[in-house]
Amino acid sequence: MRERFRVVGGAHLVGEVAVVGAKNSALKLMAVALLAVGRTTLTNVPAIADVTIMAELLRRLGVGVDYDPAAGVVVLDVPERIGHRADYELVRALRASISVLGPLVARVGEADVAVPGGDAIGSRGLDLHAAGLEALGAEVHVTHGYLVATAPGGLHGADIRLDFPSVGATENILTAAVLARGTTTIDNVAKEPEIIDIAEMLVSMGARLEGAGTSRITVHGVEALTPTEHAVVSDRIAAGTWAFAAATTRGDIEVVGGVAEHLRAPLGALEEAGCHVEVTARGFRVSAVDRRPRAFDVATLPYPGFPTDLQPFALSYNAVADGSAMVTENLFEARFRTVQELARLGADAQIDGHHVMTHGVPMLSGAPVESSDIRSGAALVIAGLVAEGDTLVSGVHHIDRGYPRFEQALRALGADVTREPDDEPPFE
Ligand code: UD1
Repeated sequence: MRERFRVVGGAHLVGEVAVVGAKNSALKLMAVALLAVGRTTLTNVPAIADVTIMAELLRRLGVGVDYDPAAGVVVLDVPERIGHRADYELVRALRASISVLGPLVARVGEADVAVPGGDAIGSRGLDLHAAGLEALGAEVHVTHGYLVATAPGGLHGADIRLDFPSVGATENILTAAVLARGTTTIDNVAKEPEIIDIAEMLVSMGARLEGAGTSRITVHGVEALTPTEHAVVSDRIAAGTWAFAAATTRGDIEVVGGVAEHLRAPLGALEEAGCHVEVTARGFRVSAVDRRPRAFDVATLPYPGFPTDLQPFALSYNAVADGSAMVTENLFEARFRTVQELARLGADAQIDGHHVMTHGVPMLSGAPVESSDIRSGAALVIAGLVAEGDTLVSGVHHIDRGYPRFEQALRALGADVTREPDDEPPFE
């Protein structure tokens, strides 16, 4: 059944909210578990549907998976012999499935992983993943929609340089290199906190590597890894969402479990725009009570730059902030679907190539809108909170992928948001 959120405008979100482990890390760490025979336990796992899809993919590879969403625990029992195929049906539902590529080539000497195809936020290539695995000695080709990588004699160390610090490519090369013979250096790697999280889990499994969080990772291959227990890193995108929610609604939110250090660019921008930002004992706090913060320019960049995942929230914020500003998307081409929906809410926003120019208005005007991905959906709900009247946000299943029980968290902060059946035909 399709659902939508009914958002009553005019809210100032006040209170505290908790963030747990990052979706973008938990899914990758589940794939990392494939590298060791035995029982690996992940804690601080978010309660989202994507974890269930990843669990299904791993089960089809022969792994025993026990997921307790309420406890936030996933136990993975990896047998000696595992499969090597990730079906299109699952990869298209969950792009993060491609993170099994590196572990499978390293463990099994073969991986057949469906090529994800276009998704709602622009095309994302796999060329860097493939080139990295080839450098490690794998043969890689695409056939019938599958990327097939084989290394029957095992992988060997190599010196690799990425043309772009891709998160996904860094992960797949790193998780293959840990079991390669000899030493691998990977230059111009992604520095995201999720990469550090994977590296820490790998080290706890017995991998030998250094440099995670810098531009160069060095890996000394080992024969085998052992299972581990690991807590997923805090979700910086969920935490950043609440920071923007506080700023946009001129509220005051303490993000318990949020790591301000992982959000330097966005929190720094909010502070400079006139919001109060403070690190607390339990996380951080953002408030903009009794003031209208200024609009600010944003250009998305690899970490530690402004995250592409927070770009839709910057748009909702700038739509009602004081003044004009430009948002530039440098990572993904088509990630501006939020703009046409914000325009339906009365935002003054124009797209020009990969830029969006906004002129802040004091208040938006409630209307039905459609979310096209996790982040745009959540950003539209926040926009609805600063719109006069009711905003109906369709496509709630997108939002559920990144924000467990989003409406409950919003209600605890004083918002009037309800989930209801959506009888309108889906927007095409
Ligand atoms: C990206 C984000 C990540 C975010 C995730 C979920 C960046 C750098 N990465 O990771 O922070 O959590 O989305 O939304 O912000 N590319 C290639 N060839 C490749 C791999 C990537 O050309 O082989 C290009 C992509 O088309 C894209 C860019 O590199 O323009 C970033 O890709 P990548 O970091 O790999 O994307 P994700 O891993 O999805």
